[in-house]
Amino acid sequence: MTYFHYQDNELYAEEVNLTALAKQYGTPCYVYSKQAICDNWQAFDKGLKKIKHRICYAVKANSNIHILKVLATLGSGFDIVSQGELERVLAAGGDPKKIVFSGVGKSTNEIAAALAADVDCFDVESLQELERINKIAKQHNKIAQIALRINPNIDAKTHPYISTGMHENKFGITMLDAFAICKKINIYSHVKLIGIAAHIGSQLTELAPFAESITCLLDFIERLKTHDIFLQHLNIGGGLGVRYQNELPPSIEEYMNAISKQLSNTQLYITLEPGRAIVANAGILLTRVEYIKHSPHKNFAIVDAGMNDLMRPALYEAWHPIIPVIKHANPAKTHYDIVGPVCESADFLGKNRLIEIKLDDILAVMMAGAYSFCMSSNYNSRPRLAEILVDGDKHFLIRRRETIHDLLQLEKDIKE
Ligand code: LLP
Repeated sequence: MTYFHYQDNELYAEEVNLTALAKQYGTPCYVYSKQAICDNWQAFDKGLKKIKHRICYAVKANSNIHILKVLATLGSGFDIVSQGELERVLAAGGDPKKIVFSGVGKSTNEIAAALAADVDCFDVESLQELERINKIAKQHNKIAQIALRINPNIDAKTHPYISTGMHENKFGITMLDAFAICKKINIYSHVKLIGIAAHIGSQLTELAPFAESITCLLDFIERLKTHDIFLQHLNIGGGLGVRYQNELPPSIEEYMNAISKQLSNTQLYITLEPGRAIVANAGILLTRVEYIKHSPHKNFAIVDAGMNDLMRPALYEAWHPIIPVIKHANPAKTHYDIVGPVCESADFLGKNRLIEIKLDDILAVMMAGAYSFCMSSNYNSRPRLAEILVDGDKHFLIRRRETIHDLLQLEKDIKE
């Protein structure tokens, strides 16, 4: 199903006309399709139906409470990396017993808050973290369930900034160290080791690195058995890529088929932590053309959304499709750099795009549901955008646009 589609040359989100939506809420704004989120999550869930499993959506990909609510209603678990994400999941009615707490730098307060909320499992990334969790759990008279996050030293073949499973990355514990920790786990009185985890990177477009990682983890669990250590949980992380330009990642169905084949004989409880593949194609950024600048070298379309609103192009040189919300009749296409109002040359949404653009046109930056709004900032003192959720022919404001007043207030609150 196409969640964003043209009808008589006008772009729609599900059954909602985006020109009308932009008029009502103003630009720039993010718009999401609820159906896309539900279909993607369900494709993950169905794909492992023969195996005990849970899908823990990676909140960092898009943490709007109303989106988390949609996922919680489907029965999703959640992968969190901070107390802020924990509070978002709880506010959305998510089940703490389905929460996995990942991340290399969990603070004392964050661990205490997660224990108080009774999250299901901490994915532990170092011996020091294990000792800290044990100590805090003891103080709170609790037993913390943990899984060790293994760094299997596998090249995920993705952008270096989002590759996490190699020894040069800060994430996880080497196999050797993890083995040693497992053998002496009984000295930690207030943790219970239930499993192991790995996440080797994001935007993976091939199946092979996933398969390699799972093989490593299964071997590790087998080796532990010879030392009478029996684990029940295996968390294989997230990372499935999507198609932004000409990548050809496996579909969710293909990915799940491959995984369920590889895990068909296991009795382990499997956790997955997909983020991008659930929300990327569910979101777009609507932005209006403010100025058009022709020079002998280049044409620039200066739009009202900038790198602070969508950081992926500036940070990773990421490519997002950019299309007109109303298609012109007989378009005279020209190459444009589509750039924002921020005072940096890194402030672009797309470069060298062949498109017809007129002043005041509204453009849609596609595939902007993941790592988009949630990575936005107030750089240049720009208020963050409104977010709107579309459900069939209905639409709901799920985050109001920030005001300048919101921006200044935290500083004005300080009494001298
Ligand atoms: N689990 C862990 C432990 C992670 O670190 C991540 C993502 C995920 C799951 C979800 O991965 P996904 O299924 O979304 O690939 N800002 C970057 C992506 C950073 C990913 C960080 N970790 C981007 O815009 O491409």
